[in-house]
Amino acid sequence: MPEPVPRTTSQDSKHRNTETADGGNFHRMTSLSAALGILAAGVLVQAYSGSSTPDYERLIKREVPGQAQIIDWKSFNVLPTVSPPSVANASTVFFIPPGHDLESLKERPFHIYDDEFYDVIGSNPTLTLIANTGTNPMFHEAAVWYPPTDEMFFVQNAGAAAAGTGLNKSNIISKIALSEAAAVSNIRNATGSVNVQTVDAPAILNSNGATNYRGEIVFAAEGQGDDATSQLVVMNPREPYNTTILLNNYFGRQFNSLNDVAVNPRNKEVYFSDSLYGYLQDFRPAPGLRTQIYRYNPETGAVAAVADGFRLTFSPNGSHAYVTDTGVFQGVLGWNFSRPASIYRFDVQEDGTWDNRKLFAYVDTGVPDGIHCDSNGNVYSGCGDGVQVWNPSGKLIGKIFLGKTSANFNFAGDGRMVILAEEDLYYATLGASGGGYIGDV
Ligand SMILES: *[C@@H]1O[C@H](CO)[C@@H](O)[C@H](O)[C@H]1NC(C)=O
Ligand SMILES: *[C@@H]1O[C@H](CO)[C@@H](O)[C@H](O)[C@H]1NC(C)=O
Ligand SMILES: *[C@@H]1O[C@H](CO)[C@@H](O)[C@H](O)[C@H]1NC(C)=O
Ligand SMILES: *[C@@H]1O[C@H](CO)[C@@H](O)[C@H](O)[C@H]1NC(C)=O
Ligand SMILES: *[C@@H]1O[C@H](CO)[C@@H](O)[C@H](O)[C@H]1NC(C)=O
Ligand SMILES: *[C@@H]1O[C@H](CO)[C@@H](O)[C@H](O)[C@H]1NC(C)=O
Repeated sequence: MPEPVPRTTSQDSKHRNTETADGGNFHRMTSLSAALGILAAGVLVQAYSGSSTPDYERLIKREVPGQAQIIDWKSFNVLPTVSPPSVANASTVFFIPPGHDLESLKERPFHIYDDEFYDVIGSNPTLTLIANTGTNPMFHEAAVWYPPTDEMFFVQNAGAAAAGTGLNKSNIISKIALSEAAAVSNIRNATGSVNVQTVDAPAILNSNGATNYRGEIVFAAEGQGDDATSQLVVMNPREPYNTTILLNNYFGRQFNSLNDVAVNPRNKEVYFSDSLYGYLQDFRPAPGLRTQIYRYNPETGAVAAVADGFRLTFSPNGSHAYVTDTGVFQGVLGWNFSRPASIYRFDVQEDGTWDNRKLFAYVDTGVPDGIHCDSNGNVYSGCGDGVQVWNPSGKLIGKIFLGKTSANFNFAGDGRMVILAEEDLYYATLGASGGGYIGDV
């Protein structure tokens, strides 16, 4: 998907131009945000006594960690000018709140929108760039932690022109050792210090989603051309990375291009989504099945459709399913801003079916792509500006701001996260723990 760049209205650029000159009405109008910027430098802020709103008082009552900053909703409730959709839209641009610029947003990437985010980030969150591959989108999807070796697996972008992947060549799977990333977590830019190792599993063609499955890893492989069908493939996470096909058809018909896969912690069934992307990216035939989410019962082999949707995850105890709808982005057809960039929540019934679809969140930038919960049930999704975080009621509480798209990310147990941003690979430390189902590993 296209990568957003900062949204700049004419008013914004005027502001940026005058910022260093310490002047301009616009700057004075946003003195509150400027104060917040100073406060975010890691000082205890109880003493602050300037003009403030009750929400603001609430937000500043705790110490703001060095790599975090408060983003005050009230600072942009009323903007001097509000641009039309031809200028301000969620496609190739993202919003920069007044009093900030791209650099300041990236400098302290943990953005606090609500005080619940303090518990998510803990007292000293860190974000480290651990690898950069130039133009090759090596860090795209399927972040899966394998605890026995403490490694994180992920896959290259399938169907990306820059990588030549898709029809001519499958994408590849790689992994890193978390210990190598942890060793450089006190550095902001540690590119080159973590070894990105290729995983040789040629039977997995154009993989996208993946998850822990019975001590191994199951991949959603999109397939290649007419004959290499899309399938669920289980891989041994240790050499020789041998594979076994779990499912490759629906009553003899090919899946279109399987995209994501998650195991429900309660009934242990494998839920997976089928998408149009292989077709939209020219490496799979026109769809022969409806794009939707299915469930697979490993005991009986039964397959059934459960809902519409694209990416999926479960709440820690499996009672809710979260599903993203990226309809706003229509591949080669471009963007249609009245279509969904939304996350829906379902109740997972005792019998494994889903009920009570509810709109959970509508993202401001790009689309909600990869999605995971922490152990407290907060919901995280990779969006056009980084990873966004909502509490279980769907309130945006914060962002891990990259200034670029993250298609996916994942926790590596307690307080550690790996964030995939195409050519950039990040390692984060924070207060929260992963809530995804790991199973018996
Ligand atoms: C969205 O905004 C960008 C940047 O201003 C602009 O180039 C693009 O044409 C807009 N898209 C639409 C569909 O209006
Ligand atoms: C696939 O390979 C052919 C022949 O080398 C080339 O013409 C074509 O552009 C390639 N397609 C993609 C999507 O890379
Ligand atoms: C990170 O460091 C590398 C190596 O010094 C440098 O080439 C690269 O530009 C840096 N990246 C950023 C985002 O600062
Ligand atoms: C890989 O091979 C080992 C040893 O034969 C076997 O126990 C395991 O189930 C295999 N895994 C897969 C995914 O094929
Ligand atoms: C799962 O967790 C939710 C939210 O904490 C709770 O409301 C629900 O009762 C739990 N369900 C089960 C089956 O434990
Ligand atoms: C955008 O999507 C809406 C809702 O699906 C639809 O009514 C409209 O025709 C679409 N616009 C374009 C330009 O395709």
